[in-house]
Amino acid sequence: MELNTRYQALAPQYLFSDVARKVARHRAAHPEAAIISLGIGDVTQPLAPAVVQALEQAAREMGCADTFHGYGPEQGYPFLRQAILDYYAGRGVSLQLAEVFVSDGAKSDLGNILDLFSSENTVFIPDPVYPVYLDTNRMDGREIRFLRADASNGFLPMPPQRAEADIIYLCSPNNPTGAAYNRAQLQQWVDYALDCGAVILFDAAYERFITQPDIPRSIYEIPCAAQCAIEFCSFSKMAGFTGLRCGWTVVPLQLRASGMSLNEMWLRRQSTKFNGVAYPVQRAAEAALSEEGMQQTGRAIAVYQQNAQLLHEVLVKAGIYHTGGVNSPYLWMRCPDEMDSWQFFHYLLEKGGIVGTPGAGFGENGEGYFRLTAFSSPADTAEAAQRLGKLLGAL
Ligand code: MLT
Repeated sequence: MELNTRYQALAPQYLFSDVARKVARHRAAHPEAAIISLGIGDVTQPLAPAVVQALEQAAREMGCADTFHGYGPEQGYPFLRQAILDYYAGRGVSLQLAEVFVSDGAKSDLGNILDLFSSENTVFIPDPVYPVYLDTNRMDGREIRFLRADASNGFLPMPPQRAEADIIYLCSPNNPTGAAYNRAQLQQWVDYALDCGAVILFDAAYERFITQPDIPRSIYEIPCAAQCAIEFCSFSKMAGFTGLRCGWTVVPLQLRASGMSLNEMWLRRQSTKFNGVAYPVQRAAEAALSEEGMQQTGRAIAVYQQNAQLLHEVLVKAGIYHTGGVNSPYLWMRCPDEMDSWQFFHYLLEKGGIVGTPGAGFGENGEGYFRLTAFSSPADTAEAAQRLGKLLGAL
């Protein structure tokens, strides 16, 4: 019996499981410690009232024979796909219903989309990177070329001069660095992909944190992007759905390679391997996109943006180089005192009771850097900011 031995090449644990294990060990040894998590990007603000109301209503429908829903369309219910279409239209991006696929979150689809590609394809992956892009490609044995992201390019790598790729991962605003591409930079990536016949896999999960007008919220704001890009988005961070699970993927009808339509392939893949997202969750997602829902979820986003601002001010005051915090719930800081990223992780945990994520966990170029998130409660973030400022001031 042969197994997929490529799993042996992966780190033994997924990054956030590894961090959670280390924190649990610390907690067991120091039960008195008041630990604050600025680690995994999990939301803390409750669901918006409009979302809860839609969930309750949908649950009641499920309990009544006349309004009960069994299997739904694998692509998602038209009511939610239409709401997503309207969400894009509000920003001047015109899509068709057949291009939108409802998912249980961006993470799953970012991995599943690889079913459409050959394992012979070459992949460009930024380093540092959200580990899912890397691990899912390693599981399939694809050749990976890393795009170096560092302080010299503001953690926003641009297309290389010579090398060519089949698949290119871009995440903007970026996880983990919080850096965001402007319009001109994304145009360069689209031109490059069209030139070499590559497909861009664009992760837009953090688009709702963008505040600056020259930062696109969707790759489809760039002319011709529909010929070369698939976009992934999620209700997790924009509407607090990390525990409900819902997202979407846009596969444009124009997108073709090797004489095949990627939209048709994805539809075939989803109808074979996926049974769709729960009806009440799709109703909740629809409510999140309603006018009332957007206003209410906007208040939660504002809380996270204020948290990010507070952490940003602490780092500025301490003179620490960092990216993110603006247009993004992530702050990517250089570790102080030449500590490596795991040393700083232990230092912050032991001396300050703060959990963050070591940059080295996101790739080689993440070494010497550290990620903080703005998703804690305002009170916890204020307390963590005070502790962090004190520790950095004392070094
Ligand atoms: C993160 O902390 O990077 C994210 O929460 C992970 C995710 O969205 O899967």
